[in-house]
Amino acid sequence: MCGIVGYVGSQSALEVVMAGLKRLEYRGYDSAGVAVLADGGLAAAKRAGKLVNLEKELVDRPLPTGSTGIGHTRWATHGGPTDANAHPHLDNAGRVAVVHNGIIENFALLRAELAERGHELSSDTDTEVVAHLLAEEFSGCADLAEAMRLVCRRLEGAFTLVAVDSDEPDVVVGARRNSPLVVGVGEGEAFLASDVAAFIAHTRSAIELGQDQVVELRRDGVTVTGFDGQPAEVRPYNVDWDAEAAEKGGYDYFMLKEIAEQPKAVADTLLGRIDAAGNLTLDEVRISAAELREMDKVVIVACGTAFHSGLIAKYAIEHWTRIPCEVELASEFRYRDPILDAQTLVIAISQSGETMDTLMALRHAREQGAKVLAICNTNGSTIPRESDAVLYTHAGPEVAVASTKAFLTQLVACYLVALYLGQVRGTKWGDEIRAVIRDLSRIGGAVERVLETMEPVRALARSLAGKDTVLFLGRHVGYPVALEGALKLKELAYMHAEGFAAGELKHGPIALIEEDLPVVVVVPSPRGRSLLHDKIVSNIQEIRARGARTIVIAEEGDEAVEAYADHLIRIPVTPTLLQPLVATVPLQVFACELATARGNEVDQPRNLAKSVTVE
Ligand code: F6R
Repeated sequence: MCGIVGYVGSQSALEVVMAGLKRLEYRGYDSAGVAVLADGGLAAAKRAGKLVNLEKELVDRPLPTGSTGIGHTRWATHGGPTDANAHPHLDNAGRVAVVHNGIIENFALLRAELAERGHELSSDTDTEVVAHLLAEEFSGCADLAEAMRLVCRRLEGAFTLVAVDSDEPDVVVGARRNSPLVVGVGEGEAFLASDVAAFIAHTRSAIELGQDQVVELRRDGVTVTGFDGQPAEVRPYNVDWDAEAAEKGGYDYFMLKEIAEQPKAVADTLLGRIDAAGNLTLDEVRISAAELREMDKVVIVACGTAFHSGLIAKYAIEHWTRIPCEVELASEFRYRDPILDAQTLVIAISQSGETMDTLMALRHAREQGAKVLAICNTNGSTIPRESDAVLYTHAGPEVAVASTKAFLTQLVACYLVALYLGQVRGTKWGDEIRAVIRDLSRIGGAVERVLETMEPVRALARSLAGKDTVLFLGRHVGYPVALEGALKLKELAYMHAEGFAAGELKHGPIALIEEDLPVVVVVPSPRGRSLLHDKIVSNIQEIRARGARTIVIAEEGDEAVEAYADHLIRIPVTPTLLQPLVATVPLQVFACELATARGNEVDQPRNLAKSVTVE
């Protein structure tokens, strides 16, 4: 939430910062602003609304050219999305400019103290106090970095701060507690950003910032200290994707590109984890086999789409390993005093690796002595750094706010973890594991085939653009798929959408069915678990008898559903547990097309932000 960029070097800071903000706009788009140091002073511009409003403002009122600058794109927390509340915030002398991501919890107290000392604050934000505090501290200490350390020690909450001061024209200072901040190191230039995407066009050389650290950026180098001023150990790394991966690549939306990338993302997530003999090798899981054998419970914590992948993982984990598995919304987890100990394996699933609810849940789990394994897509992010082990999904950068390829790769990672647990605990034979791995290796091709047959799904979506409600039904692993289909539709098409376990229908939700109501039904394979299949075919008949328009997602060759489907979407035959990998794809396409047909912003749905760094 909120995107931050800082730059010092020899290029035009405004150009670098604006290009960086464009890449970070997915993190928030309520307002945007920039500040540059030039001609011995500080110049700033900010505008409510999307970045394009700021771009227009800069055409009407250009800023002077300078080579040190900062920028911000906002997801509003304290104070509405107005010009006044947009970042950067300045002190009364207009010397210091600050941008911020997170929430400063004690801002009201600090604000009152500042007012008493004669400061005039002009916004409703929690951030503005920092500009004033920095100005006060800098007047009495050696440099801006020291002033930042002093200020940070007085702040409570979660914050990433980046600041400049006209008295130090070649310096940008950043600070990090709980919210993300990455350093980019170039030749004679340096960058700060919430996400490497902001500077990937300039350098792939990055440094992870740790918790409670302050960084000082100069053209010739970067200095990192703790809030206490002690030099900090830095962890440099190379970003393993390039600027092209963060471009739309000819697609109208990032979401379309990311849906299309799914076969590759799935294949990349399997890569290197299967040896020549087809055996599973998860070297990254640094929790020892002996410890994993001792585990008597698995608890999965995650939010939103990642939570849905966890719900599906439960079926695989319990079926393949016979260990009880609970799945919990990370935002609820620590507040109900969960029972955890050293025999609990907690799996934290997160695309961004920065979701505050998930981070807080894993911290709570570790405090109680549980081991935490992260499944994450973002190298160097906080959740893997604070976990005992990490299994990275290799989806590549996911820019669209609605998660697609990350979801499929989270599923693949969950299946791998489930198989691995089965392997070390001896609940699965080697040949059984190899058989599932073979099936997983074929999934990329199956997703490819689904993608090739999506035109009727798009046409159907367009025809439903005037509807208010769509329901989604599923059973077994199809139930979380139904939840995911409903979530995608809510966030993208702004329609009322709900997912139900089809068996629950008769316990209440069936009262919602009325003439021509679109109901999407995810049908399990007719093979193997045919009882489940037969039950859902009955559910389809029940809703159809009450007037619903049935949109049925069923395996190729499943003839039993044909008579009851007003619209039939075919998916390739897969083993039951792996079906979500193909059944979710039409639902992503459906939601994307409905959003487009309703004139909504596909990549940046209203009120949302990609990386949710507040609780
Ligand atoms: C929905 C979506 C969100 C995220 C959720 C968790 O399309 O993207 O529901 O899945 O905010 O985010 P991560 O995975 O970054 O922890």
